Formats: sequence, structure tokens, C-alpha cells
Amino acid sequence: MSSGTRWSALSALATEAGACTACPLAAGRTHAVFASGDPSARVMFVGEGPGRDEDLAGEPFVGRSGRLLDRLIVEELGMGRDDCYVCNVVKCRPPDNRDPLPAEVAACSHFLAGQLELVAPAVVVTLGNFATRSLLQTSEGVTRLRGSSYAFAGGYLVPTFHPAAALRSGGLVLAQMRADFVRAKQLLAGAP
Ligand code: URA
Repeated sequence: MSSGTRWSALSALATEAGACTACPLAAGRTHAVFASGDPSARVMFVGEGPGRDEDLAGEPFVGRSGRLLDRLIVEELGMGRDDCYVCNVVKCRPPDNRDPLPAEVAACSHFLAGQLELVAPAVVVTLGNFATRSLLQTSEGVTRLRGSSYAFAGGYLVPTFHPAAALRSGGLVLAQMRADFVRAKQLLAGAP
């Protein structure tokens, strides 16, 4: 697919998300938060859903968690955030930062499915329990699943903690996140 075709298809999906009223989250949003970064990226980060800062800015991972994510991308992947594609399972902020409900995830799932198909990254890094469980379709938690990579959509999925967990717990969680980012880098180096 040419990068122009990919760009226009993603723009059309982003416009659709911006006007979407398929679930009750639409009523509470300032912005639908579709994605940021490079539509041709080889690595995609998937979080849970926008928080307050992201809802206001219209961009994923711009608050404290986002600043830690940016740092890990630079320090462990040796890339800039703009070289990656960053998005979430749901595109509108759940109230009080609660987990998205199954019906909200279902209503939003075609957006993430479209992003995965169009960007077609070699490596998807899921950030936290929610994104990991959603994409791997398991009830197993990220603490058990991280430390390995999984075949996913023609490439690999690397589960890791949500940056908010490292901000809360520090030390060991952050070290494990760094190791997971290194795993992603190694897979990128070996991936076609
Ligand atoms: N947490 C997420 O899961 N996604 C964001 O975009 C911001 C915080």
C-alpha cells in the first residue's frame, strides 16, 4: 500500500472517530483521540484510552504517562516518538478514568482493527492489562504475560506494563518495562 493511500484511509477513520456516537463515551468527550505518530511506523504502542490530558489535547499519551513513554522510546528503542504510531483501545475518555466497558470496546474495535491493518506494524507493544488482554483476547494479566513476545497479525506483540504503573511503583516495574522495550527493539531488528 502506498503511504498516500495509507494516510488517506487513516485520516478517513480519524474523521469517522471524531464524529462517532456509537457508545455513551461520545457524550463526555472534548476530543476523540485517534492516534499520533507515523502511519508507516514499524512499531505501534497501544494503551487503554485517553485520560483527561489526552481528551483536552486530542492526542494520546501527552500527560505524565506519555512523558515516561517518550523517554523509554528514546532510551531503549533509540527512536523518537514521532517514528512510532501511538493509539489506544478506545478513542474517547471513560469517565473518572475507569476501564472501558465491553460494549464501549466493541463499539470502538473497528477503529483499532483498521489502524492495525493499515499501519501493519512489525511489532505492537501493548501498555498495561487492558490493552494486552484486549489484543491477545485473554483474561491473563500483563504481569504473567510480559517477558515474552507473541505472534500477532503477521508480526509480534510485546506486552508490557502501563507507564502509569511504573510511575506508581517505580524501580522493578520500570526495569521490566525497559527490558520489554529492548525485546521490542530486538524483534524490530530481526523483522523484515
Ligand atoms: N493512558 C492511556 O492508556 N492512554 C493514553 O492516551 C493516556 C493515558
